[in-house]
Amino acid sequence: MNPSQKSALIVGASRGLGLGLVETFLGRGWRVTATQRTPSPDLGRLDSEALRVETADIDDDAGVAALHDRLASERFDLIFVVAGVATQAHDPLHAVPRDVAAQVYLTNAVSPIRFAEAFRDRLAPGGSLALMSSILGSVSLNETGGWETYRASKAALNTLARSFEIRHRAENLSVLILHPGWVRTEMGGTEADLDVATSVTGLADVIAAALGRPGAHYLDYRGETLPW
Ligand SMILES: NC(=O)c1ccc[n+]([C@@H]2O[C@H](COP(=O)([O-])OP(=O)(O)OC[C@H]3O[C@@H](n4cnc5c(N)ncnc54)[C@H](OP(=O)(O)O)[C@@H]3O)[C@@H](O)[C@H]2O)c1
Repeated sequence: MNPSQKSALIVGASRGLGLGLVETFLGRGWRVTATQRTPSPDLGRLDSEALRVETADIDDDAGVAALHDRLASERFDLIFVVAGVATQAHDPLHAVPRDVAAQVYLTNAVSPIRFAEAFRDRLAPGGSLALMSSILGSVSLNETGGWETYRASKAALNTLARSFEIRHRAENLSVLILHPGWVRTEMGGTEADLDVATSVTGLADVIAAALGRPGAHYLDYRGETLPW
């Protein structure tokens, strides 16, 4: 193993942006541990000695704890929780069953922060913890409405990420809260502005530039700071 080789844990990498980030970091010479919930054919097709594939559902605390144990000897320069859902995102809040709205909040806001809490001891010195948010999580930029449960879940993620960073301020944690742009994935749809490659290349550049920067930073894939 090359001791100067950087190492990333990408959580939620079966497809879409997570998969694209795995390919990008491998292409940049990083070692990558990628997680899936169920066997991902796309991840399985990646042929690299620098790739380790693990299985975990971020909503499953026991499964996350078991992953933490399996990765006991690892230290990551980047831990990036990418996983997210947009269930019934087009319906207004009152039209979404309570349990569905609650699950969007749990997966998009609660589980990423619980994951960060559990895995912060697996960060290498000078590393960063990244969380996939969205520009829709910005309260001040909400001029158009829509995507109500999803928007609220990402705003909650942003708030919880700031509280997480403040709770651990003595550790000088670097917390990157990232917006990938509007991207053509299963979630983003075919009408979206960007292809996956453009988004993940930008995100990887932004991460490289901000790696280890203490504090909580809300940035888009071009490195622009977004207003809360
Ligand atoms: N695409 C966009 O325009 C856009 C814009 C802003 C933000 N984002 C955010 O970017 C992230 C990735 O989105 P995407 O566009 O790549 O969406 P996607 O293609 O729908 O992929 C979602 C990923 O999250 C995983 N996932 C969902 N729930 C999970 C759980 N409980 N545990 C572990 N993994 C879970 C999925 O795994 P399975 O394959 O097992 O379902 C899949 O790998 C999300 O957080 C999303 O909110 C996307």
